[in-house]
Amino acid sequence: MGDFVLNVNGAHVRVNASSEETLLSVLRNRLNLTGTKYGCGEGQCGACTVLLDGRATRSCLVSAESAAHAKIVTIEGLEQDGKLSPVQQAFLDAGAFQCGYCTSGMILSATSLLHERHNPTEEQIVEAMEGNLCRCGTYPRILDAVKRASRSPVQGASR
Ligand code: FES
Ligand code: FES
Repeated sequence: MGDFVLNVNGAHVRVNASSEETLLSVLRNRLNLTGTKYGCGEGQCGACTVLLDGRATRSCLVSAESAAHAKIVTIEGLEQDGKLSPVQQAFLDAGAFQCGYCTSGMILSATSLLHERHNPTEEQIVEAMEGNLCRCGTYPRILDAVKRASRSPVQGASR
């Protein structure tokens, strides 16, 4: 076990965890940030996606300790001052979810994409999001949501 500090959603939190414990486990089980979902646990589904320094990252594949120097943003950290981020709002407006299990990961992957690329083409959206799986098959509405968010003046803005 080791003691380290994580920067999660703008707050510094001290964590005591083994060097093998995943960031996903620490977020969900120690910090109670359960918006980040456990899907496959093997990097194949995208349900556990969070932002590390702005980049979409599978939190089931990285140890929490290795994220100690990064700015971590989870779905709980996207809204600011009670206002949903543009990507969150676009998912809501487009009704881009059914059971919602994939939604946090989808929103964080889309946020990362829109940080890197303003006004992506449909092909670029599909390519950026293809690692995020939706068992409910809401892909057309997810695509619509990302397109809507890409038209927002503040795009994927987050912390
Ligand atoms: S739970 Fe991490 S990619 Fe599936
Ligand atoms: S909305 Fe159910 S898995 Fe995507």
